[in-house]
Amino acid sequence: MTGTRILMPVFILMGSAAEVTKLKLNNGREMPAIALGTYLGFDQNGIVQSENKKLRDVVLHAIDVGYRHFDTAAIYGTEEEIGEAVRMKIEEGVVKREDIFITTKLWNTEHRREQVVKALEKTVEKMRLDYIDLYLMHWPMALNEDYTHSDVDYMETWQGLEDVQKQGLAKSIGLSNFNEKQIKRVIKEGSVMPAALQIEVHPQIIQRELVQYAQSEGLVVMAYSPFGSLVSRHGMQFSGPKIDDPVLSAIGEKYGKTTPQVVLRWLVDRNIVPVPKTVNYSRLKENIDIFDFKLNKEEIEEINKFNTHTRYTFPSFWQEHRHYPFEKIDNPIADPFIAKN
Ligand SMILES: NC(=O)c1ccc[n+]([C@@H]2O[C@H](COP(=O)([O-])OP(=O)(O)OC[C@H]3O[C@@H](n4cnc5c(N)ncnc54)[C@H](OP(=O)(O)O)[C@@H]3O)[C@@H](O)[C@H]2O)c1
Repeated sequence: MTGTRILMPVFILMGSAAEVTKLKLNNGREMPAIALGTYLGFDQNGIVQSENKKLRDVVLHAIDVGYRHFDTAAIYGTEEEIGEAVRMKIEEGVVKREDIFITTKLWNTEHRREQVVKALEKTVEKMRLDYIDLYLMHWPMALNEDYTHSDVDYMETWQGLEDVQKQGLAKSIGLSNFNEKQIKRVIKEGSVMPAALQIEVHPQIIQRELVQYAQSEGLVVMAYSPFGSLVSRHGMQFSGPKIDDPVLSAIGEKYGKTTPQVVLRWLVDRNIVPVPKTVNYSRLKENIDIFDFKLNKEEIEEINKFNTHTRYTFPSFWQEHRHYPFEKIDNPIADPFIAKN
């Protein structure tokens, strides 16, 4: 299978101050160049859930300020409220279904081929949106119901994703948290080319080689946790550049932008779709207001220098799984999913 390299951004007007670009996928469809992240974090009770339709209201506001792309996953528990907000805005006549791009992800306990269609049917039913724009395999590792490791190979799961695309339940399919070797295998053995790859990318993990490889095969790369150490995440602080970092601040001052905006633009200028999460209305607006400036090559390289290949998402409790995609560490942490059950 060969990939077509179609990463030329095109400009569209989104009814807000910002002109949000779109990237062409290798199947001819288009993806808005920024997505709102909707993972609300993890605490001692498990994955944090939206209360009193707070997330629905965030999505309503996000649509008003120009977001057209939403990133969710079966495991986040946010699909329903995103669907509700989108339907409300369609009913109000603010957007049409085809203006909105929904990315969601298959969870690890549904990797058998026949489970994939059922899992996506459940998602579509929850969202009440008829189809999903992009369905990603969240991780290459399959797990059993009790979270013990399953032997289901991700190529079997990929066949399930090909099925949902053929049925029209998902317009495009792709991968998340796959390494280069695993992506190569999907391209070689699969019959549909993945349209996108979602991975962790921020100044401390710039992913130069993986991004280059994926883009050379025509996959659109999406960056999760785009702010890296700039912000505190789920109550945790990380070492690395902060919001007042002098290098990022100097670039920001030049363009009249904040350091989070500079980091998001650094991704856009690498043809990567950032997936910033915020539930704060003024930060929603700030994060999408990045389409009226552009960094030069030197500034991009300056930010690349922060790279220490530091991940914030590394489920080391799965590192003995035969399809674990990342580097192993000496002291893996206990599996929070099993600890909870
Ligand atoms: N594929 C995967 O395995 C995977 C893994 C992780 C994440 N994701 C996706 O990527 C999304 C984003 O990742 P993430 O949540 O880890 O990280 P992130 O977007 O880099 O950071 C989110 C944090 O930044 C804060 N924030 C947002 N905008 C800000 C701004 N302009 N100034 C200061 N603080 C700001 C948010 O707080 P407030 O909400 O209070 O503004 C939140 O605490 C997730 O929601 C999810 O959709 C995917």
